[in-house]
Formats: sequence, structure tokens, C-alpha cells
Amino acid sequence: MDEADMDGITELRDRYLGAIEAAGDEAALEAVRLSALGKKGEVSALMRSLGGMSAEERKTAGPALNALKDDLNTAILTARVRLADAALEARLATEWADVTLPPRPRAEGTIHPVSQVRDEVIAIFADLGFSVAEGPQVETDWYNFDALNIPGHHPARAEMDTFYMARAEGDNRPPHVLRTHTSPVQIRHMEANGVPCRVIAPGRVFRADYDQTHTPMFHQIEGLAIDRDISMANLKWVLEEFFSAFFGTSVKTRFRASHFPFTEPSAEVDIQCSWVGGQLKVGEGDGWLEVLGSGMVHPNVLRAAGVDPEQWQGFAFGMGIDRIAMLKYGIPDLRAFFDSDLRWLRHYGFAALDMPSIHAGVSR
Ligand code: DAH
Repeated sequence: MDEADMDGITELRDRYLGAIEAAGDEAALEAVRLSALGKKGEVSALMRSLGGMSAEERKTAGPALNALKDDLNTAILTARVRLADAALEARLATEWADVTLPPRPRAEGTIHPVSQVRDEVIAIFADLGFSVAEGPQVETDWYNFDALNIPGHHPARAEMDTFYMARAEGDNRPPHVLRTHTSPVQIRHMEANGVPCRVIAPGRVFRADYDQTHTPMFHQIEGLAIDRDISMANLKWVLEEFFSAFFGTSVKTRFRASHFPFTEPSAEVDIQCSWVGGQLKVGEGDGWLEVLGSGMVHPNVLRAAGVDPEQWQGFAFGMGIDRIAMLKYGIPDLRAFFDSDLRWLRHYGFAALDMPSIHAGVSR
């Protein structure tokens, strides 16, 4: 190998080291590698030419070419690491997320006062040992009326402004009804689960009625406690505990003798309140506000549910969820509950994390 060839190697080394240095990405670097060290690369061709040289020539050319090959390989390896680092840096720079930025504003829904109050009531009664029972909104006339000691001719049937379902032409069975109250759940629960029991049954009920305090669909909550020796005294204690927890202040109740077909004796229950400057305050003053119907479950009702009234007795009550929601949160018109007016919902609705509990506002 003569001087000229050695110069050629120096030239090759400079040229390829320059190209390796200049490669802007891994693809360009690979192209450089192939043109030098690939099968048809310039350096590979020179390596092959070693075979045609004299032993003397090979002695100098061999090591020189090997050194060139090693230098280029080392330079390529170094460049590859450099390019990979740079690519990662570039990705990190563009994919960077600023976790300190505030979130994009999102339209928030609210919990409807009826849902809120239903959950509050359930939470309080759960603490008093009551579980939740359910029944269908389309009810047979047996469960809605007869089983509750309201026979066909009873005036209570007419008074309830019942919605009747349609029967097929010629089908003379009594039509199903939209349940007019949650009381049929008493029967269904005792039938399915027996006694003793302590349940509440919240749900929708329906009556053909419409004014400031009546809507054709509204919500009730039924209560039922049956055991060997449950009395009106237990009922009064449970209700006072409930109203005091619900309104967050000690609330007295007043029982007024009344009549319901499904209870004997029956009582309507008022809670203590005051009206000051048109403002209603529960739990103070000497006014009274009717909030529910109740009584000792009638023996006929127990019998209809397959429970022996000689062995078992207990109380039941029914109250309007919407009504106590209006009282607690100062909502004046029942009809607005069901208008789905977003301004109303935003005003009276609750945040999703306003979790009800018996500990939320009791001050006794
Ligand atoms: N079901 C009655 C109504 O809708 C309310 C009621 C009264 C329920 C007395 C009861 C009760 O469980 O004992 O007006």
C-alpha cells in the first residue's frame, strides 16, 4: 500500500466522520453507515481488495483499514446514542403537561332536592335500624286498595283521584292503577320477607290533582315496623328522632286522632313550628304543621299480608318527601320541582358531595 492509498484512507475517515457528525436523525445515520460499512459500502470494498494485495501491502493496509472500520463503528455508536437522547428530549419537550393549569370549565349538574331529601331520610332511618323496601309504580288494585283494608265501595278509593291503567276490550278484571301511595309496599314487603321487620319505602306515587301544593306525580316515604310488642310510643319516639335529625334541631310532634282504613288507631302528626315575618321555622314556636299520617297497622292489613295479628303488631306511617323538602329548604311551590327548569335546579340543587348523614346537622 503506497502513500496515496494511505491518504485515501485518511480522506475516507475524515469524510465519514464528518457525515456521521452531520447526520440529523437515526435514518440519516444509518444511510451513512451503509454507504461506508454496508455490503456495497466504500470501506467494505477496500476490505475486499485486501485479498488481491501482496503480503507486504496487506501488512500496512490491513491494520489501517481495520482501524478505520473500528473508528467509524465507534463514531456511529456514539452518534446513535446522541440522536436517541435528542429525540427523547424533543418528545419530552412537546408532550409536557402542565399539571398546575386549572381544569377546563365543565357544566355541572346538581342533585335534585327530592333525591337529596330521599337520601337524607334513608340515612337517618338506616341509623334507626330501618332498611329500604321497594314496590312497583304500576300496582294491582289488590295491593293498592283491598289488601290495605280499602274495599271497593270505600270512600277512600274515590277520594284518591286514582289513575287507572287500560284493560283490553272485553277484559273485565279490575284495572291496574298507578299507585296512589307507598302503602302497598307494606303488604309486598311482609309477604316476601315475613315479620318482624323495620323498613321504609321511598318512591313515586300518582294522583290526578294539580295546584300549588299538588302535582299528579309526587314522592312519599312509607314506614313499617312490626314485632311482638311495638306500640304508638315507639312510633312517637322514632318520628321525633327522625324529625330532629332531619331538621337539625329538636322537634316536638303532636299526634291528632284521625282515620285511615289501614291503621287502628290512626293519627295525623304535626311538627312544631313558628311563622315569623312570613318565615317558617321548624322546631320552635307554638304553631303546628301537618307532615304525615300514621297509626297501628290494622289487623286486616296484617292478615292480608299473611301475618297473624294475634302474634304481631306494629306501626306504619306515610309522609310526603317533596313536602318535607319544601319545609327544610324553603321551596315555595311544589310544581317547580318537576318543571326541569335549569335555573331552579341550579338554585335549589345540591353538590354531588353534599352527602347526607345523621351527623350532618343534628344539634341536640
Ligand atoms: N297512605 C296514606 C296517604 O297516602 C298515608 C299514610 C297514612 C300511610 C297512615 C300510612 C299510615 O302508612 O299508617 O295519604
